[in-house]
Amino acid sequence: MASKILIIGACGQIGTELTMALRKKNGNANVIACDIREGNEELMSSGPFEIADATNYNQIEDLVIQYEIDEVYLMAAMLSATAEKFPMKGWSLNMESLFHVLNLAKDKKIYKVFWPSSIAVFGPTTPKHNTPQTTVMEPTTVYGISKQAGERWCEYYHKKFGVDVRSIRYPGLISYKTLPGGGTTDYAVEIYHEALKTGTYTSFLKEDTELPMMFMDDAIRATISLMEAPAKKVKVRSSYNLSALNFTPETLAASIRNHIPEFTISYHPDFRQAIADSWPSSIDDSSAREDWDWKHEFDLDRMTAEMLSGIKEVHQV
Ligand SMILES: NC(=O)c1ccc[n+]([C@@H]2O[C@H](COP(=O)([O-])OP(=O)(O)OC[C@H]3O[C@@H](n4cnc5c(N)ncnc54)[C@H](O)[C@@H]3O)[C@@H](O)[C@H]2O)c1
Repeated sequence: MASKILIIGACGQIGTELTMALRKKNGNANVIACDIREGNEELMSSGPFEIADATNYNQIEDLVIQYEIDEVYLMAAMLSATAEKFPMKGWSLNMESLFHVLNLAKDKKIYKVFWPSSIAVFGPTTPKHNTPQTTVMEPTTVYGISKQAGERWCEYYHKKFGVDVRSIRYPGLISYKTLPGGGTTDYAVEIYHEALKTGTYTSFLKEDTELPMMFMDDAIRATISLMEAPAKKVKVRSSYNLSALNFTPETLAASIRNHIPEFTISYHPDFRQAIADSWPSSIDDSSAREDWDWKHEFDLDRMTAEMLSGIKEVHQV
């Protein structure tokens, strides 16, 4: 029998595509989406949807009981750029929601948890190139601090209470179906929309700021394959490094110019530059590749072709 899955924060950039992928795999009725707001037409009409607040334990527990949930994917969070503006709100949302889900698993009301971490767990004292799985972690953003604390709690609940929690440190994720939700890598999505709409883009990061990134299809595949891996293969219970591409605004613009030769880019760095400067430029994900056979599929040129045709189709630009 297929597992019954609850996705919290299902209407966001990742949740939307994750919900659709899991519905396709497990059957629409077995994947319950919830969020504090409604999502796009496809998500709302393809299976069960509930309004619920991730910081309200009773609301989440009620859904777990009502739908006899086995697994929870917790995608609700406040992202890096927004959390710098609302630090206490960011901290409370990111931590309270995680504790609720970990406690449901500790009490055996659910059996498996996916919780995403981020490259934001690293900081300026971390080795910047090919950042190892285990290394110095002194994050300097509210978001990074919440993700690092979250990782420690995931590992603690696994070791102390046997909770089957699995996690990935996502790099910046790039997709065309849903817009990003207030992160430092959002430029790499906006740039494609603006290239098609206006032929020009002003980047809020400097031209040579290199960051680890990934096309959404790869991220969704990684997430589902980590969750499907036999428990004994999942050796890291804090969070796995995961890598696909690294690029700068300048190299991304060049790859767009292969399709739109007249495209122009200018640079006007804002407060997000300091956040980006504190993060790695590339990630060593050999643990994920060895433990559960992770392999990315999309390189920069394939992603650019997919983004431009996807935006044209979905947003009719
Ligand atoms: N997108 C990325 O590039 C990226 C990179 C690294 C890590 N992550 C992590 O992945 C997860 C999902 O990110 P995303 O990009 O989809 O974020 P997003 O902001 O696009 O989506 C988050 C969703 O959570 C919902 N939400 C907010 N508060 C809620 C609450 N109290 N109760 C229920 N739902 C609530 C929002 O309405 C939104 O639909 C987050 O934990 C994020 O930190 C994302």
